Amino acid sequence: MSHYLILSKLTQIYPTSNGPAVIVRDFDLAIEKGEFVCLIGHSGCGKSTVLSMIAGLNDITEGGIILAGKELVGPGPDRGIVFQSPCLLPWMTAFENVMLGVNQVFFTANRDERRQIAEYYLSVTGLGDAMQKRPAELSQGMR
Ligand SMILES: Nc1ncnc2c1ncn2[C@@H]1O[C@H](COP(=O)(O)OP(=O)(O)OP(=O)(O)O)[C@@H](O)[C@H]1O
Ligand SMILES: [Mg+2]
Repeated sequence: MSHYLILSKLTQIYPTSNGPAVIVRDFDLAIEKGEFVCLIGHSGCGKSTVLSMIAGLNDITEGGIILAGKELVGPGPDRGIVFQSPCLLPWMTAFENVMLGVNQVFFTANRDERRQIAEYYLSVTGLGDAMQKRPAELSQGMR
């Protein structure tokens, strides 16, 4: 059976002033569709580095990632990531920040449908009353 997500000999090496820093080396992992997986390890062991590579936000030094039978190249709207710290654009409201993603993923929907999608997800995450607030007006958890 072929796995849904395959990390194969995934390696991340950063160039630093002290020479190459090996952050992740030969990391193998296979995940099935619908499986819930936690990566557990000490601070700085490379968990976010691996997630960033799956999200396509980080170059892969060696090895590769296969998702649904295709090798991953760069980021795409088929993957979502919740960053460790909020990455909201401070001059935009909560609604406008959410619309950035909605516009990318639901580009075939019309303007009104996209607005409804953003409002729906803000509402079900308890942010219905905060849609027009800017990040500085939101609590850390709301961000
Ligand atoms: N751009 C970079 N250049 C050099 N080293 C980096 C870079 N980014 C991250 N690192 C180093 O890579 C290591 C892994 O970082 P990473 O953010 O993946 O850790 P983590 O396991 O997610 O930790 P935490 O649990 O604290 O979130 C750390 O030692 C960090 O200093
Ligand atoms: Mg991390």
